[in-house]
Amino acid sequence: MPQILSGKEVSLSLNEQIAARVAAGKAKTGMVPHLVAILVGNDGASQTYVGAKEKACQTVGFDSSILRYDASISQDELLAEIERINQDDTYTGLIVQLPLPNHIDEEVVTHAIHPDKDVDGFHDINMGKLAKGHPGVKPATPYGITLMLKHYGIETQGKHVVVLGRSNIVGRPMSLLLSDSSETGNATVTLCHSRTRDLASYTRQADILVVALGKPEFVGADLVKPGAVVIDVGTTRVEDTSRERGWRLTGDVLYSEVAEVASAITPVPGGVGPMTISGLMMNTLQAFERKYA
Ligand code: GUN
Repeated sequence: MPQILSGKEVSLSLNEQIAARVAAGKAKTGMVPHLVAILVGNDGASQTYVGAKEKACQTVGFDSSILRYDASISQDELLAEIERINQDDTYTGLIVQLPLPNHIDEEVVTHAIHPDKDVDGFHDINMGKLAKGHPGVKPATPYGITLMLKHYGIETQGKHVVVLGRSNIVGRPMSLLLSDSSETGNATVTLCHSRTRDLASYTRQADILVVALGKPEFVGADLVKPGAVVIDVGTTRVEDTSRERGWRLTGDVLYSEVAEVASAITPVPGGVGPMTISGLMMNTLQAFERKYA
């Protein structure tokens, strides 16, 4: 059986480290980091994610606020709220949970957040720094995945990593982080996407395969090299009438099959999901420490 890479376990360990640094920061400054989450509308998954982020803040000793707005809020009203938070020194970090209603331009909203408070790491300035290998805020999910690899001692240097998916939130920044010159980088990275021809010829070369497509159970054992490390970023709600709530979370990897060939694999749920939150907590802590160091 493969090693199970438990995001739950890693995040518990990271939470302890973060809580200790929060306590040290408080002793020095009298303050703790404060994360603000903006939630627009009532999408069920977004509410769950924001609730989990708030709980994580409580666990590590951050202050947190969730600002909820009706789906009818105008883009200008939302931008004014973001600017108010940008200007207020009591707030360390700000995230706007995506997706947003169709009448709001996510790019405009993302760029309205001050780059120093952009603890999701989505702003062009932070993505640009990442692309150039300069210090900046790293996108929370790919950053969380590197924290997980480090925790389990999974070496990336010189390895061939194949990333499936080129989204701005996961695939593209993941490829940059793993190829940069760092302790959790120095890999040779191949980025595959929907137009890649003969996908299996690439994925079967991967020592580490990161799958972020949003296509439930897309990756079967035929796409995986025996002994590979498989990181599944997918979290799609699929219908499941055997459950009271009527759905279950499914990854992009066909777990039962791939677990037979992989040397290590992340489960869904309990794998990458908690690491996104750890990445966010780390980014918020670092934003605070940069400000008050
Ligand atoms: N929607 C899905 N993932 C994320 C995330 O990491 N951050 C935000 N703000 N919205 C999301």
